Amino acid sequence: MSQKFWVVVPAAGSGRRMGSDIPKQYLPLNGRTVIEWTLSRFVEHPRIAGVVVAITDGDPYWQDLGFKHPALMTASGGVERCDSVLKALQQLKQVAAIDDWVLVHDAARPCLSRDDLDHLLDELKDHPVGGLLGTPISDTVKQTNASSEVIGTPDRSQLWRAFTPQMFHLQMLTDALVDAARAGKVVTDDASAMELAGFRPKMVKGRATNIKITQPGDLQLAELYLKQLNREEQAK
Ligand code: CTP
Ligand code: MG
Repeated sequence: MSQKFWVVVPAAGSGRRMGSDIPKQYLPLNGRTVIEWTLSRFVEHPRIAGVVVAITDGDPYWQDLGFKHPALMTASGGVERCDSVLKALQQLKQVAAIDDWVLVHDAARPCLSRDDLDHLLDELKDHPVGGLLGTPISDTVKQTNASSEVIGTPDRSQLWRAFTPQMFHLQMLTDALVDAARAGKVVTDDASAMELAGFRPKMVKGRATNIKITQPGDLQLAELYLKQLNREEQAK
């Protein structure tokens, strides 16, 4: 039997940088909330066995949404993103096999295209480690010191922006995140934990429009990208 694909969606952040009254995953976007667009990409996908979303305990916004689907389970959130992911992975262990694939995807990335998702599954399903979606950097990049003085220009031909989903085996990712936490490292993505464990995740090129809504202007951008994506996908 081949390995199944599961999805973990960390959605227990407070959206500090967004500065809105409600956490950014609950902001309205083209007639639904951000998190509903994100979750619907996965729960309606025939290759995805199930989805675990990590939600802050007692989160009133999640309860108000009433989002339900047979493929959807919930877990508690944690202090940092990596804690929320770990809690969701523990939950997943009750239904998934240890070598099944897990795709971790930010709730705040509602513009993932179906093509990118399918491409990621196909590119990595036979890979020994797994990997992540991203895009090559197109701007020249500068490295600075603490006084914002430029001290270097790294070769951008090997630099990428790291997106999600990030896809790894359930047990390998769990072990890597636990080890990172024990070492006192707060990793901001799952690939970083795998790298710390000595693995080399594979970068898979995806669309630059798979943005993470982080700051106020990002919501308008996501509106545009999502409209374009929905038009494209309906035309198929
Ligand atoms: N996240 C989470 N648990 C946390 C922190 C973040 O599940 N303790 C989730 C967020 O809800 C988001 C994703 O991880 O979907 C990416 O994190 P980020 O963009 O940093 O979101 P926030 O932490 O909410 O935003 P900020 O850092 O600006 O406060
Ligand atoms: Mg954060």
